[in-house]
Amino acid sequence: MSTQKKIMVSGIQPTNKLTLGNYLGALKNWVKLQTEYECYFFAVDLHAITSRQDPKELAANTYFALATYLAAGIDLNHATIFVQSHVRQHPELAWVLNCFTYMGELSRMTQFKDKSSRAGETIPVGLFTYPTLMASDILLYQADLVPVGADQKQHLELTRDIAIRINNLYGDLFKVPEPFIPNIGARIMDLQSPENKMSKSVSTDMGAVFLSDSAKEIEKKFKRAVTDSGTEISYSQDKPGIKNLIDIQCAISGKKPQEIVASYQGKLYGHLKVDTANCVIGELKPLQEQTQVFLSDKAELQRILSKGAEKAAVKAEATLRKVYDAIGFAPTHS
Ligand code: TYM
Repeated sequence: MSTQKKIMVSGIQPTNKLTLGNYLGALKNWVKLQTEYECYFFAVDLHAITSRQDPKELAANTYFALATYLAAGIDLNHATIFVQSHVRQHPELAWVLNCFTYMGELSRMTQFKDKSSRAGETIPVGLFTYPTLMASDILLYQADLVPVGADQKQHLELTRDIAIRINNLYGDLFKVPEPFIPNIGARIMDLQSPENKMSKSVSTDMGAVFLSDSAKEIEKKFKRAVTDSGTEISYSQDKPGIKNLIDIQCAISGKKPQEIVASYQGKLYGHLKVDTANCVIGELKPLQEQTQVFLSDKAELQRILSKGAEKAAVKAEATLRKVYDAIGFAPTHS
């Protein structure tokens, strides 16, 4: 019997500071699942430049994201963490995948449609080919499982299609990955417009809870959260603001929505808002403190990241070489 662990891969874009959505939809699940897997977690800075970034902020946000992974409990005994741009195999394989992916497929990606409609006249090509770079991130490591929020499901499906297409042509070059999308927390909504997802890049300051927000800011954001004009606390699609607050509590506490609803019988929306704020503040406080600890020793963080990139590159190169050989690229002789 093989004792080899299955492989888990995921990443977050270091644009702006991470949000509560990134934490509850992705990072918290990485931590929960990590002991069962050999894990590769990265900050996807190559993806981040599909929208303009301030160079200083991009670097700072990259460190912030990776320090947050460690602070959340990512354990280096199970996981390799690194910066995507430090492992050159990611864009190299992405180029190959571009040649096996169809314009029609990429045009159907809802995230591309959303983001390109906001980009106006000047839509970067990188925004269009973004999903092939994401497929590369995943396929390079022969991932079994990819824990993400619901918004990444379509990208995961495309990744599977590309892998199957190439495997059919050249033999089993890639593991076909499965997504892991949590039942609760997969789509945390904007506090100001609860019909839209909470987003680092799109939400207003009051709509998104950032992991770096102070307790005061978090309290203010939840107190002002948009709800409906009713009074009864129930868990339903036609009360997206209330449902979102309940989802947030559930994703943090592990409780079922019905348990939360039952505990609010006879109470007002205001109670739910204040309790949700306190629940989030309690969850984020140790995370914020630990993030600062990891950020305060930059040299140690950089050492972890360069070791991580070195290890990831070995795994990635094995896949890339297999792909190059199968395609018929002449071997290098050095
Ligand atoms: P990104 O940076 O937009 O988001 C990172 C992770 O957070 C999840 N997420 C959410 N979950 C719940 N509610 C929300 N409001 C919310 N907002 C974001 C996302 O689903 C994601 O899991 N393309 C990816 C990054 C990526 C990647 C990869 C992921 C690049 N390569 C390889 C997995 C594997 C992205 O833009 O995520």
